[in-house]
Amino acid sequence: MLADLKYVLKIADEGSFAVPAFNVYNMETVMGIIKAAEMKKAPVIIQSYSRLFTSGNADYLAPIVLEAAGKASIPVCFHLDHGASMAEVVKAIRCGCTGIMIDASALPVEENIRITSDAVRICGYAGIPVEGEIGHVGSVKDDMMSPFTQVAEAVNFAESAGVAAMAIHVGTAHGRYKKEPKLDISRIREIHDAVGPFLVLHGGSGIPDDQIREAIAAGIRKVNIGTDVCYAFLDRVFETSRELVAIDLFMKDAIDSVAEFAASRIDLLGAGGK
Ligand code: 13P
Repeated sequence: MLADLKYVLKIADEGSFAVPAFNVYNMETVMGIIKAAEMKKAPVIIQSYSRLFTSGNADYLAPIVLEAAGKASIPVCFHLDHGASMAEVVKAIRCGCTGIMIDASALPVEENIRITSDAVRICGYAGIPVEGEIGHVGSVKDDMMSPFTQVAEAVNFAESAGVAAMAIHVGTAHGRYKKEPKLDISRIREIHDAVGPFLVLHGGSGIPDDQIREAIAAGIRKVNIGTDVCYAFLDRVFETSRELVAIDLFMKDAIDSVAEFAASRIDLLGAGGK
Protein backbone atom coordinates (compact mmCIF):
# COMPACT_ATOMS: atom_id res chain seq x y z
CA MET A 1 0.00 0.00 0.00
CA LEU A 2 1.05 3.54 -0.63
CA ALA A 3 1.79 5.24 2.70
CA ASP A 4 3.12 8.64 3.66
CA LEU A 5 6.46 9.47 5.26
CA LYS A 6 5.03 10.06 8.72
CA TYR A 7 3.15 6.76 8.64
CA VAL A 8 6.23 4.63 7.93
CA LEU A 9 8.47 6.57 10.31
CA LYS A 10 5.91 6.22 13.10
CA ILE A 11 6.00 2.44 12.68
CA ALA A 12 9.81 2.64 12.90
CA ASP A 13 9.67 4.79 16.00
CA GLU A 14 7.23 2.49 17.75
CA GLY A 15 9.41 -0.51 16.90
CA SER A 16 12.77 1.25 17.55
CA PHE A 17 14.15 0.44 14.10
CA ALA A 18 14.91 2.46 10.94
CA VAL A 19 13.13 2.39 7.60
CA PRO A 20 15.49 2.02 4.65
CA ALA A 21 15.10 4.75 2.04
CA PHE A 22 16.50 3.44 -1.23
CA ASN A 23 17.28 5.76 -4.14
CA VAL A 24 15.84 4.44 -7.40
CA TYR A 25 16.44 5.41 -11.00
CA ASN A 26 14.42 3.09 -13.20
CA MET A 27 11.80 0.35 -13.24
CA GLU A 28 14.36 -2.36 -12.49
CA THR A 29 15.68 -0.74 -9.31
CA VAL A 30 12.07 -0.26 -8.15
CA MET A 31 11.36 -3.95 -8.88
CA GLY A 32 14.38 -5.07 -6.86
CA ILE A 33 13.47 -2.93 -3.83
CA ILE A 34 9.82 -4.03 -3.82
CA LYS A 35 10.86 -7.67 -4.18
CA ALA A 36 13.08 -7.40 -1.10
CA ALA A 37 10.52 -5.46 0.95
CA GLU A 38 7.82 -8.05 0.16
CA MET A 39 10.16 -10.92 0.94
CA LYS A 40 11.14 -9.37 4.29
CA LYS A 41 7.67 -7.93 5.04
CA ALA A 42 9.25 -4.54 5.67
CA PRO A 43 7.98 -0.97 5.31
CA VAL A 44 10.15 0.84 2.80
CA ILE A 45 10.81 4.28 1.34
CA ILE A 46 11.46 4.52 -2.38
CA GLN A 47 13.01 7.87 -3.19
CA SER A 48 14.50 9.72 -6.13
CA TYR A 49 16.91 12.60 -6.37
CA SER A 50 15.63 16.07 -7.24
CA ARG A 51 17.48 15.87 -10.57
CA LEU A 52 15.08 13.17 -11.82
CA PHE A 53 12.16 15.50 -11.15
CA THR A 54 13.87 18.39 -12.96
CA SER A 55 14.82 16.29 -15.96
CA GLY A 56 11.40 14.74 -16.42
CA ASN A 57 12.55 11.16 -15.65
CA ALA A 58 10.16 11.19 -12.70
CA ASP A 59 7.23 11.56 -15.12
CA TYR A 60 7.96 7.97 -16.18
CA LEU A 61 9.27 6.68 -12.88
CA ALA A 62 6.45 7.97 -10.65
CA PRO A 63 3.65 5.88 -12.23
CA ILE A 64 5.86 2.79 -11.86
CA VAL A 65 6.50 3.46 -8.17
CA LEU A 66 2.86 4.31 -7.47
CA GLU A 67 1.62 1.18 -9.22
CA ALA A 68 4.14 -0.99 -7.37
CA ALA A 69 3.28 0.64 -4.03
CA GLY A 70 -0.45 0.25 -4.60
CA LYS A 71 -0.05 -3.46 -5.27
CA ALA A 72 2.38 -4.09 -2.41
CA SER A 73 1.29 -5.78 0.79
CA ILE A 74 3.72 -3.65 2.81
CA PRO A 75 3.64 0.16 3.35
CA VAL A 76 5.64 1.99 0.66
CA CYS A 77 6.39 5.72 0.78
CA PHE A 78 7.37 7.53 -2.44
CA HIS A 79 9.71 10.37 -1.51
CA LEU A 80 11.46 13.29 -3.19
CA ASP A 81 15.08 13.23 -2.00
CA HIS A 82 17.06 16.49 -1.62
CA GLY A 83 14.39 18.68 -3.23
CA ALA A 84 16.43 21.56 -4.63
CA SER A 85 13.72 24.22 -4.85
CA MET A 86 9.98 24.82 -4.77
CA ALA A 87 9.84 23.82 -8.46
CA GLU A 88 10.83 20.25 -7.60
CA VAL A 89 8.57 20.25 -4.54
CA VAL A 90 5.53 21.15 -6.66
CA LYS A 91 6.58 18.65 -9.32
CA ALA A 92 6.84 15.94 -6.65
CA ILE A 93 3.34 16.78 -5.41
CA ARG A 94 2.06 16.40 -8.98
CA CYS A 95 3.98 13.11 -9.34
CA GLY A 96 2.16 11.67 -6.33
CA CYS A 97 4.99 11.69 -3.80
CA THR A 98 3.89 10.87 -0.26
CA GLY A 99 7.00 12.33 1.33
CA ILE A 100 9.01 15.36 0.25
CA MET A 101 12.46 16.55 1.24
CA ILE A 102 13.47 20.16 0.80
CA ASP A 103 17.20 20.64 1.21
CA ALA A 104 18.34 24.17 1.92
CA SER A 105 21.04 22.98 4.32
CA ALA A 106 23.88 24.63 2.41
CA LEU A 107 22.35 28.07 3.10
CA PRO A 108 22.53 30.10 6.31
CA VAL A 109 20.22 28.68 8.99
CA GLU A 110 17.63 31.47 8.84
CA GLU A 111 17.27 31.03 5.09
CA ASN A 112 17.12 27.25 5.49
CA ILE A 113 14.27 27.70 7.98
CA ARG A 114 12.42 30.15 5.71
CA ILE A 115 12.64 27.90 2.63
CA THR A 116 11.82 24.74 4.58
CA SER A 117 8.81 26.37 6.29
CA ASP A 118 7.55 27.43 2.87
CA ALA A 119 7.79 23.84 1.63
CA VAL A 120 6.04 22.61 4.78
CA ARG A 121 3.19 25.09 4.17
CA ILE A 122 2.78 24.16 0.49
CA CYS A 123 3.06 20.40 1.10
CA GLY A 124 0.66 20.82 4.01
CA TYR A 125 -2.08 21.87 1.56
CA ALA A 126 -1.56 18.49 -0.11
CA GLY A 127 -1.21 16.63 3.20
CA ILE A 128 2.37 15.56 2.50
CA PRO A 129 4.91 15.31 5.36
CA VAL A 130 8.24 17.07 4.80
CA GLU A 131 11.85 16.19 5.60
CA GLY A 132 14.33 19.04 6.05
CA GLU A 133 18.06 19.07 6.69
CA ILE A 134 19.92 20.96 9.39
CA GLY A 135 23.69 20.88 9.29
CA HIS A 136 24.95 20.02 5.83
CA VAL A 137 25.72 16.41 4.91
CA GLY A 138 28.19 16.80 2.05
CA SER A 139 29.81 14.48 -0.43
CA VAL A 140 32.82 12.18 -0.04
CA LYS A 141 34.36 14.36 -2.77
CA ASP A 142 34.31 17.49 -0.56
CA ASP A 143 37.72 18.66 0.68
CA MET A 144 36.34 19.31 4.14
CA MET A 145 33.30 18.22 6.13
CA SER A 146 30.85 20.88 7.30
CA PRO A 147 30.49 21.27 11.07
CA PHE A 148 28.24 18.64 12.66
CA THR A 149 24.66 19.61 13.58
CA GLN A 150 24.50 21.38 16.95
CA VAL A 151 21.79 20.31 19.39
CA ALA A 152 20.57 23.91 19.82
CA GLU A 153 20.31 24.53 16.07
CA ALA A 154 18.45 21.22 15.66
CA VAL A 155 15.95 22.32 18.33
CA ASN A 156 15.53 25.74 16.71
CA PHE A 157 15.05 24.15 13.27
CA ALA A 158 12.55 21.57 14.55
CA GLU A 159 10.50 24.24 16.31
CA SER A 160 10.63 26.83 13.52
CA ALA A 161 10.37 24.80 10.32
CA GLY A 162 7.58 22.38 11.28
CA VAL A 163 9.09 19.35 9.55
CA ALA A 164 8.02 15.76 10.16
CA ALA A 165 11.57 14.46 9.71
CA MET A 166 15.00 16.00 9.74
CA ALA A 167 18.34 14.94 8.35
CA ILE A 168 21.27 15.77 10.61
CA HIS A 169 25.00 15.85 9.99
CA VAL A 170 26.75 13.50 12.37
CA GLY A 171 29.74 12.32 10.32
CA THR A 172 28.32 10.75 7.18
CA ALA A 173 28.74 11.84 3.54
CA HIS A 174 27.17 10.95 0.21
CA GLY A 175 29.05 8.49 -2.01
CA ARG A 176 31.62 5.74 -1.47
CA TYR A 177 33.74 6.49 1.61
CA LYS A 178 37.48 6.71 1.05
CA LYS A 179 38.07 6.08 4.73
CA GLU A 180 35.76 4.62 7.33
CA PRO A 181 33.29 7.19 8.69
CA LYS A 182 33.05 7.77 12.43
CA LEU A 183 29.55 8.69 13.48
CA ASP A 184 28.92 10.92 16.48
CA ILE A 185 26.48 8.58 18.24
CA SER A 186 26.10 10.62 21.42
CA ARG A 187 25.17 13.65 19.31
CA ILE A 188 22.41 11.62 17.64
CA ARG A 189 21.13 10.63 21.08
CA GLU A 190 21.21 14.22 22.38
CA ILE A 191 19.39 15.55 19.32
CA HIS A 192 16.86 12.69 19.50
CA ASP A 193 16.14 13.51 23.14
CA ALA A 194 15.70 17.20 22.34
CA VAL A 195 13.51 17.27 19.20
CA GLY A 196 10.18 15.88 18.02
CA PRO A 197 10.75 15.16 14.27
CA PHE A 198 12.04 11.74 13.22
CA LEU A 199 15.80 11.71 12.59
CA VAL A 200 17.28 10.80 9.21
CA LEU A 201 20.78 9.56 8.40
CA HIS A 202 22.03 10.35 4.89
CA GLY A 203 25.04 8.76 3.22
CA GLY A 204 24.03 5.26 4.31
CA SER A 205 26.24 3.36 1.81
CA GLY A 206 29.35 1.82 3.35
CA ILE A 207 28.81 2.74 7.00
CA PRO A 208 30.07 -0.17 9.13
CA ASP A 209 27.15 -2.29 10.39
CA ASP A 210 27.89 -1.75 14.08
CA GLN A 211 27.75 2.04 13.65
CA ILE A 212 24.41 1.76 11.82
CA ARG A 213 23.02 -0.31 14.72
CA GLU A 214 24.31 2.20 17.26
CA ALA A 215 22.84 5.11 15.28
CA ILE A 216 19.42 3.40 15.29
CA ALA A 217 19.67 2.66 19.01
CA ALA A 218 20.42 6.39 19.48
CA GLY A 219 17.27 7.42 17.57
CA ILE A 220 17.78 7.35 13.77
CA ARG A 221 14.52 6.27 12.07
CA LYS A 222 15.32 6.62 8.33
CA VAL A 223 18.56 5.61 6.64
CA ASN A 224 19.19 6.79 3.07
CA ILE A 225 21.00 4.36 0.79
CA GLY A 226 21.84 5.42 -2.75
CA THR A 227 25.35 4.62 -3.99
CA ASP A 228 25.24 0.96 -2.99
CA VAL A 229 21.92 0.45 -4.82
CA CYS A 230 23.67 1.73 -7.96
CA TYR A 231 26.61 -0.64 -7.48
CA ALA A 232 24.34 -3.61 -6.73
CA PHE A 233 22.58 -2.93 -10.02
CA LEU A 234 25.48 -1.86 -12.24
CA ASP A 235 28.05 -4.43 -11.11
CA ARG A 236 25.63 -7.19 -12.11
CA VAL A 237 24.78 -5.49 -15.41
CA PHE A 238 28.47 -5.38 -16.30
CA GLU A 239 28.78 -9.10 -15.51
CA THR A 240 25.75 -10.08 -17.59
CA SER A 241 26.40 -11.82 -20.87
CA ARG A 242 25.92 -9.77 -24.04
CA GLU A 243 24.42 -12.91 -25.57
CA LEU A 244 21.29 -12.02 -23.63
CA VAL A 245 19.71 -9.53 -25.98
CA ALA A 246 16.10 -9.39 -24.77
CA ILE A 247 16.30 -6.58 -22.26
CA ASP A 248 13.86 -8.07 -19.75
CA LEU A 249 16.02 -11.22 -19.54
CA PHE A 250 19.22 -9.17 -19.50
CA MET A 251 17.92 -7.20 -16.50
CA LYS A 252 16.73 -10.18 -14.47
CA ASP A 253 19.97 -10.80 -12.56
CA ALA A 254 20.50 -7.09 -11.92
CA ILE A 255 17.02 -6.87 -10.37
CA ASP A 256 17.83 -9.86 -8.18
CA SER A 257 21.12 -8.28 -7.16
CA VAL A 258 19.30 -5.10 -6.03
CA ALA A 259 16.77 -7.27 -4.15
CA GLU A 260 19.54 -9.22 -2.42
CA PHE A 261 21.31 -6.03 -1.39
CA ALA A 262 18.09 -4.34 -0.22
CA ALA A 263 17.14 -7.43 1.82
CA SER A 264 20.50 -7.28 3.60
CA ARG A 265 19.94 -3.61 4.53
CA ILE A 266 16.38 -4.32 5.70
CA ASP A 267 17.81 -6.95 8.04
CA LEU A 268 20.52 -4.60 9.29
CA LEU A 269 18.03 -1.80 10.00
CA GLY A 270 15.70 -4.19 11.83
CA ALA A 271 12.82 -3.40 9.46
CA GLY A 272 11.90 -7.00 8.56
CA GLY A 273 8.52 -8.31 9.73
CA LYS A 274 7.38 -4.84 10.78
P1 13P B 1 24.72 7.30 -0.36
O1 13P B 1 24.67 7.42 -1.85
O2 13P B 1 26.04 7.62 0.21
O3 13P B 1 24.17 5.99 0.10
O4 13P B 1 23.73 8.42 0.22
C1 13P B 1 22.39 8.37 -0.14
C2 13P B 1 21.66 9.52 0.40
O5 13P B 1 21.92 10.00 1.48
C3 13P B 1 20.55 10.01 -0.41
O6 13P B 1 19.99 11.16 0.12
